[in-house]
This record gives sequence, C-alpha cells and structure tokens, in this order.
Amino acid sequence: MLKVLFVCLGNICRSPMAEAIFQHLLHENGLTESIFCDSAGTANYHLGKPPDSRTLHVLKQHGIHTHHRARQISYQDFESFDVLIAMDESNFQHLERMSLNLKTPRARLQAMIDYVPAAHRHYSAIPDPYYGQLSDFEEVYQLLYPGCQNLLRELSGLMGECK
Ligand code: 4NP
Repeated sequence: MLKVLFVCLGNICRSPMAEAIFQHLLHENGLTESIFCDSAGTANYHLGKPPDSRTLHVLKQHGIHTHHRARQISYQDFESFDVLIAMDESNFQHLERMSLNLKTPRARLQAMIDYVPAAHRHYSAIPDPYYGQLSDFEEVYQLLYPGCQNLLRELSGLMGECK
C-alpha cells in the first residue's frame, strides 16, 4: 500500500483539506485499498482539534467530509510514509531539516504546488488562509482539488509501473 502524508503548519486548514479531497478521489476511483493518506502539521498548536470551521464549511459545500484531528509530524512519519507533500516553502524546509537527521528516510518530499495545473502557476505555494476570509479557503480548495487529481494520476501511474 502506498502512503501519502499532506503537511502544513497547523494541520487545521490546508493539509486536512488536501487529505479529505484526496480521500474523496480515492473513493471515487476505487483506490482506498491501494493508497492510504493522512495529514499532519509541523507545529503542535492545535493537537487533537478538528479542522478549522472554514475548512469544514468549504469541504461540505463540495460534498466532502472529514473526521481528521490535528496531529504533529514525527520522525516515524518519514519511515511509515512513501511521500510527504508540503503545502508551502516553510513546511518543505521544515521537512528537509528533519530528514537531515535521518540516515535513509523512506519518504520522498514533494511540494503540493508542483501538482497544481499551470493555469494557477502565479502561486508559488498553497497560500495560508488562516488569517483570511472564507473566500481564501475556497481559493485553497480550487488549488488543492486539481492538485490532488494530478497527484493521484501520478501515483496510480507509478503503481501501474510496479505491477
Ligand atoms: P494550516 O493553517 O497550516 O493550513 O493549518 C494555519 C493554522 C493555524 C495557524 C497558522 C496556519 N496558527 O498560527 O495557529
């Protein structure tokens, strides 16, 4: 089973949204037995909390649900997951710094923005909506949905090659 972990700062806005969208796509494509996904934050500010109410609202509007509770990334995640996907440069650098402390981490690091289609390429990262409005959360959704579709296409292609 291929394991994917979405990572942001607080694990209440962007990464749980990405996880919920990706999980929704796994269901739609009958891939829940082949790919597992989860999300985590680099910080510990909101441990055990549900996603931000604005993340939940936007997901619900798009017919997507989540039961995620916030957790912090651990060194173990670099061994249990195949891919860690950072929402912005700061999250990416945090993961890079952690991986330097490990001899041969299993997980490869990726940036979520690299999966977002070219039409949105004026963004250099998935913007942090925490101090923004509901519309900022919808904007994040509009980046994450096609990004998750592309990620799934890549991962299911890779799994096909391994068969
Ligand atoms: P996230 O957003 O990293 O997308 O979950 C944030 C959530 C909380 C905080 C910052 C960003 N915070 O400072 O508490």
